[in-house]
Amino acid sequence: MNKKIALLGLGTVGTGVINLLRENEDLIHSSSGVNFTITHILVSNTEKTRNADVSGIRVTDDINEIQNADIDLAVEVMGGIDSTKDVIHSFLSRGIPVVTANKDMLAIHIDELEGTAHKHQSHLYYEAAVAGGIPIIHTMQHSLNANKISKVMGILNGTTNYILSKMTFDGWTYQDALKEAQAIGYAEADPTADVEGIDAARKTLLLARLAFNKKFKLEDVDLTGISAVDIKDIKLAENAGLTLKLLGVAEEIENKYHLAVEPIFVSTKHQLANVHYEKNAVFVNGNMIKEAMFYGPGAGGYETASAVVSDMINSVTVKSECSVRPEEYGLKTEEKADSAYY
Ligand code: NAP
Ligand code: HSE
Repeated sequence: MNKKIALLGLGTVGTGVINLLRENEDLIHSSSGVNFTITHILVSNTEKTRNADVSGIRVTDDINEIQNADIDLAVEVMGGIDSTKDVIHSFLSRGIPVVTANKDMLAIHIDELEGTAHKHQSHLYYEAAVAGGIPIIHTMQHSLNANKISKVMGILNGTTNYILSKMTFDGWTYQDALKEAQAIGYAEADPTADVEGIDAARKTLLLARLAFNKKFKLEDVDLTGISAVDIKDIKLAENAGLTLKLLGVAEEIENKYHLAVEPIFVSTKHQLANVHYEKNAVFVNGNMIKEAMFYGPGAGGYETASAVVSDMINSVTVKSECSVRPEEYGLKTEEKADSAYY
């Protein structure tokens, strides 16, 4: 089966996607029966030298060209909020499924976009939007769905965990560690979102939405970042047998929902205290599973591409469920059952 792809963005993640598809082409074909052909790539600067072989692919800075292309699937790894939402909306409205890694946009527009996808029997995939390469979205949607979830908590931002680890173990300054995280490609284009905890808040919101099957707004997340963290705080923690970690927490207590992102002194005996550098981890408490922890890379080109490409494969091979109840969109359950694509 051949699938034609438009790739929107060829930065850290987009380059990872192209190179992963080339490197694992035979494996993907033999396990799923799918051949992905990237026919179009959207960038902002067509003159830039690329770290991927784009020969035979139309590389353009013209979004209209992408939107008019004959494609089966759109993969959005360029970032941006409202204008990117409009682009994704237009694909979904035409029945074209979309894979996105864009938590900035999803944290605001996911309810609308899932509604559009549902209405047009398309689908929105976003495994890469939370915790990089860790398969937590699919797990929340499909593997923990027999549980009443009471809490989701974790280290959800690779950049800040990298900075805190570099300061703690390698004696680096905050500024040097941030610069390195930017150079490697962990940080957002504007790292304010990372260090002020906004990126982790967006991910906390997306996890809370799945955990509790409720809609949330970013303002629902109490927010403190790490930009004010000083080496003295790190030393203080060390001397007390603690480790400083930026945690995202979403918790249900007596039918009330508490969402927060803040730096927390974690006991070095706790598993989260041993999650270092760009690694992320997500703890989930469910009434049947009790506690489960998911660990892996929270950022990085290939690591994130692993999640993006798994969505691409699943978009072809798995008939998946919409993550929010159809009633949320004013649809009856029977209408959902009639939607063949799901
Ligand atoms: P990036 O390195 O900055 O790359 C962005 C790419 O999109 C570039 O190729 C850029 O073009 C293109 N682009 C940006 N705005 C555009 C526009 N308006 N029109 C056309 N092209 C545009 O970003 P990234 O790190 O790959 O991240 C991409 C997305 O994945 C973001 O939503 C990010 O939050 C998310 N994400 C990133 C990671 C990670 O580890 N980096 C992990 C998970 C999720 P040029 O190359 O010409 O500049
Ligand atoms: N800037 C993000 C981080 C990328 O550092 O976690 C992955 O979402």
